[in-house]
Amino acid sequence: MQSNHSLPVDPDRLLAIAQKWGTPTYVYLEKMIRERCRSLNKIFPDLPVSWLFAVKANDNPHILKIIADEGFGFDTVSYEEVLLCLRIGTDPKDIFYTENNMTDAEMHGAALQRVVLNIGSLGRLEAFCEAYPGNECSIRIKPDISDGHHAKVDTGNQDSKFGIRLDLISDAVELARRHGVRIRGIHAHIGSGIQEPENLLAEIEVLLKSSTNLEDLEFINFGGGMPIPYKPGEKPFDLDLFGELASKRLRAFLKSAGKPVKFFFEPGRWVVGPAGILLTQVNTVKDQGRKTFIGTDTGFNHLLRPALYDAYHGVVNISAGTGEAEHTYHIAGNICESGDMLGLDRSLPESSPGDYLAILDAGAYGMTMASQYNRRALPAEVLVTDDGHHKTIRGRKSPEETVDELLRETGLLHANTDETP
Ligand SMILES: Cc1ncc(COP(=O)(O)O)c(C=O)c1O
Repeated sequence: MQSNHSLPVDPDRLLAIAQKWGTPTYVYLEKMIRERCRSLNKIFPDLPVSWLFAVKANDNPHILKIIADEGFGFDTVSYEEVLLCLRIGTDPKDIFYTENNMTDAEMHGAALQRVVLNIGSLGRLEAFCEAYPGNECSIRIKPDISDGHHAKVDTGNQDSKFGIRLDLISDAVELARRHGVRIRGIHAHIGSGIQEPENLLAEIEVLLKSSTNLEDLEFINFGGGMPIPYKPGEKPFDLDLFGELASKRLRAFLKSAGKPVKFFFEPGRWVVGPAGILLTQVNTVKDQGRKTFIGTDTGFNHLLRPALYDAYHGVVNISAGTGEAEHTYHIAGNICESGDMLGLDRSLPESSPGDYLAILDAGAYGMTMASQYNRRALPAEVLVTDDGHHKTIRGRKSPEETVDELLRETGLLHANTDETP
């Protein structure tokens, strides 16, 4: 496959970062993140729409603070994400906690912190009502509309584990009523990396209709899922057209509702995906007969998407000059599994050990899905700031620190002596 990718930043800057901070390193572009937040903030100029950033896409606190500074609240999916948002100074009312098989302890934590709890099952709603009669919450429904870049991230279909069935909404309402719990809001999320924008519009329709069951309705949250192009030739999501079509519908709804209702969307990928790059260094180039492999110092432990979803990420050799002969390579990671491939049949200039590669569109679901499989350290993270500087926003542990950390956490290395018993 032809590489044909344009870097969102000067390759010399990326080279300088790789040389200064080493690899593997995630690099994020503050300016681009801010611009993308502002594009979203513009599409509903006359409507009460607020934006929540889906923290699962990128939870580096420096990135979250930039996004908060652009006026976004947060969509969280775990109590840990809730605490993270609180710790960076977010007002609890701007934190939406969409539970997913939550524990009682997490429910009590959410209630204590007074974040907006969005409940996705009748069982959890009942537990909440019994524990907090007279309180308030939101409900997540399963709209029976689904879309996503891969079946694993379709979340609104009939067989999905998420949300309350449409035919059970009236039971949820009755349950809440019996306990004096106000259901202030209704939410759905049909999937991540939506392929057909019409599906998002159809979901909006389902939510608007379902919301009429709620007499205490204050807000409707339409979820996230706005896609980004990963492959050359893929079309970007037409934000303006979407804004126009959705606005029409939301305006009409507000007219008929006869009371103020707020709307939320909660994108993750769209905000940060294109603004993140994973830098890696080539350490091996190997002719295996039918395929030539470029071996790198990262792998699916650091960028899981290709292995998990067969996802495509553009790869650019930032060390090679332009106009050099193109070769076809498989780009392999350093994890001990043959599925550890970052790109297949990629056309790149002749690449050699020591070259640096930029793996594109890695700002969403990159570092947040990274693991220490094969006991490797996590990548560092570097921010190219608005004023053109760069700074590290997460350091890298050395191999020794990585191993010590495991020994310490498992009680085999004592913090005060650093001696193994
Ligand atoms: C409930 C919910 N909201 C928002 C998102 C963000 O999705 P995306 O990053 O595709 O916008 C997700 C992602 O899975 C989600 O589960």
